[in-house]
Amino acid sequence: MTDIFQTKSPFIGDRVRLRALEKSDLDDIMKHWNTYESRVGLGNVIPMSSMMEEDFIQSSNDRAKSGKGYNFAIETLESNEFIGTCGIDDIWQVNRSSTIGISIHNPENHNKGYGTDAMICLLKVGFQVLNFHRMELWVMEYNQQAIHVYEKIGFKKIGQKREAHFLQGKYHDIYVMDILAEEFKVLHG
Ligand SMILES: CC(C)(COP(=O)(O)OP(=O)(O)OC[C@H]1O[C@@H](n2cnc3c(N)ncnc32)[C@H](O)[C@@H]1OP(=O)(O)O)[C@@H](O)C(=O)NCCC(=O)NCCS
Repeated sequence: MTDIFQTKSPFIGDRVRLRALEKSDLDDIMKHWNTYESRVGLGNVIPMSSMMEEDFIQSSNDRAKSGKGYNFAIETLESNEFIGTCGIDDIWQVNRSSTIGISIHNPENHNKGYGTDAMICLLKVGFQVLNFHRMELWVMEYNQQAIHVYEKIGFKKIGQKREAHFLQGKYHDIYVMDILAEEFKVLHG
């Protein structure tokens, strides 16, 4: 029999932990959030004001309270530095399904293993805490780094929204990727 107190928290990975997003995170969010390089991978490059971000934190709080979605701050285990956010949304109770997203804000923190680790934590929270059967994400076709990370974790490309995203004078496809609870369990325990 598993002793639940001996099992590792799904919110803590090898390099990062996920914790609740706080009002006090606003200044850290604003530091690296508004550059084109930080946001182009997400497909939304219009600068966001601190008021908009404050609203995001407030609505995250409201959504978490009502069980409609959960956004988390990502911080490093090494220095407790706030490095980004990730979240679960579009929760379908009947289908036990949801949509997820992630951003490591400062490009200087990319390629250090944080995104992969945070994503695995987020999936553990989804499958082991919130009891989802399936988790989905959308990714721009040009975001090869993110696609590599998702495929490495075990996501499968299941569809393609053709010319669904307009940027830099051109339409781009958006890939839909998903992972099932059983697939995640085989790969990550
Ligand atoms: C996508 C993102 C979450 C990945 O996080 P990260 O911390 O940079 O990723 P990791 O360091 O864990 O892994 C990076 C991997 O991508 C690979 N990589 C880097 N650039 C790449 C490229 N242009 N094409 C393919 N793979 C690439 C690295 O080699 C590494 O793979 P490896 O572990 O097999 O060696 C992060 O870069 C990010 O937040 N980007 C901006 C926002 C964004 O695009 N979010 C996703 C929206 S769907």
